[in-house]
Amino acid sequence: MPAFSFMATMNLSLLDEIARGSADFDADLGAANDSRSLDEIRVRWFGRKGGLIPALFARLKEAPKEQKKEAGDALNKLRDRIDAELKAKIESVAASEAKSKATRDTIDVTLPARLPHLGHLHPVTIVRQEIEQIFREMSYTIDPGPEVETDWYNFEALNFTPDHPARDTQDTFFVDVDRLLLRTHTSNVQIRSMEKWKPPVKVLSCGRVYRRDEITMRRSPMFHQAEALLVDKGIHIGHLRATLEHMIHRLFGPDAQMRMRPSFFPFTEPSAEVDMSCVFCKGKGCGTCSQTGWMEILGCGMVHPQVLRNCGIDPEQWSGFAFGLGIDRVAMLKFDIPNIRTLFENDLRVLDQF
Ligand code: PHE
Repeated sequence: MPAFSFMATMNLSLLDEIARGSADFDADLGAANDSRSLDEIRVRWFGRKGGLIPALFARLKEAPKEQKKEAGDALNKLRDRIDAELKAKIESVAASEAKSKATRDTIDVTLPARLPHLGHLHPVTIVRQEIEQIFREMSYTIDPGPEVETDWYNFEALNFTPDHPARDTQDTFFVDVDRLLLRTHTSNVQIRSMEKWKPPVKVLSCGRVYRRDEITMRRSPMFHQAEALLVDKGIHIGHLRATLEHMIHRLFGPDAQMRMRPSFFPFTEPSAEVDMSCVFCKGKGCGTCSQTGWMEILGCGMVHPQVLRNCGIDPEQWSGFAFGLGIDRVAMLKFDIPNIRTLFENDLRVLDQF
C-alpha cells in the first residue's frame, strides 16, 4: 500500500491531498483480491481511529473559509466513491470466494472408489472347501472331530496293538494331561463316527494332524488331512475306486489319472496308496515326481473287520471304505507350490495371490 502520511502532507493544500488520496485508493483497491486485504483497506479509510476519511474531514474544519466549499464537495465525493467501490468489490470477492469454497468441498462422484484391502482364503482352505463341497454333494456328513485325542481313538480302536510297529511310523506328540495326544491322522473320526451313528455312515472329516517330523520341503510337523468313511451294506473296493476317481477329476480335471498300489494300514484290509499322474509333466516324468510320472496323495482301504467290531458293528452285515488325503499336498500340486513351508509362513505376497 502506498504510504499516505497525513503529517507529511501538511504543506499540501487540502484539495491536493484529496486528489492524492483518491489515486492512492485506486491503487489499493486494484491490488486487493481477497476479503482480508479489502477489510484492511476499509479500516485504513474509514476506521474511527486514524481512518483517512475522518482525518480529512477533521482537516476540513480547520481549512480556510474560501477553500471549504470546494474541498468539502471533493471530500464528500471521494468518501461516497470509496464507500461504493469498496462495498462492490467486497461483495464480488465474497461471492467468488464462496463459489470456490463450494467447488473445493464438492465430492466428485465420478472418481473411482477406494477399495478396502480384502482378505483371501488360504490355499489349504480353498482345497478343503472344494473337497467338502464334493462330498457334501454326495450327502456325506462334514465333521472335523477333535485334534486332541485319546490313545483309543487315534490308535487302539484302529487296530494298532500297543507294540504295533506301525505306531513308530507316526511319531506322536503327547499332551501332559490324562495321557492325551495330538492326533497323528484324521482316522480318529472313523471311530468316533461309527460310535456316534449306526450304519449306514457317510462322513468327511478335514482338519489338522500332528507328527514329530523335521520340517522339510514336503513335510511339516503339522499338516492337514481329509478323511472319508463310508459304511453300508455291500460296499466293495469298486465303490472306493469310483469315489476317489470322482474326487480327483473334480479337483484336477478330467485328464488326471490315478493308480492304486497295495500298501498296509492296521485299520484297513486290503490297503492301498493312491498316486495321481504328475500335474507338472502330465505323467511324462519330471524332477518333481522323481521321473516316475506319479505322485502319492492318499492312503486308503476297506475298513478292517476288527475296526468295525471295535465300534459294535457286525462285519458280516456291513462293510466300508476309508481314505485319508493330504490336503497340503493337494494344495501344493494344484497351485504349483514346491515348498510346504510356503503354506505356513503367512507371507502376504504369497497369500494375496489366492
Ligand atoms: N490315516 C492314514 C495316514 O495318515 C491314511 C488312511 C486313512 C489310510 C484311511 C487308510 C484309510 O497315513
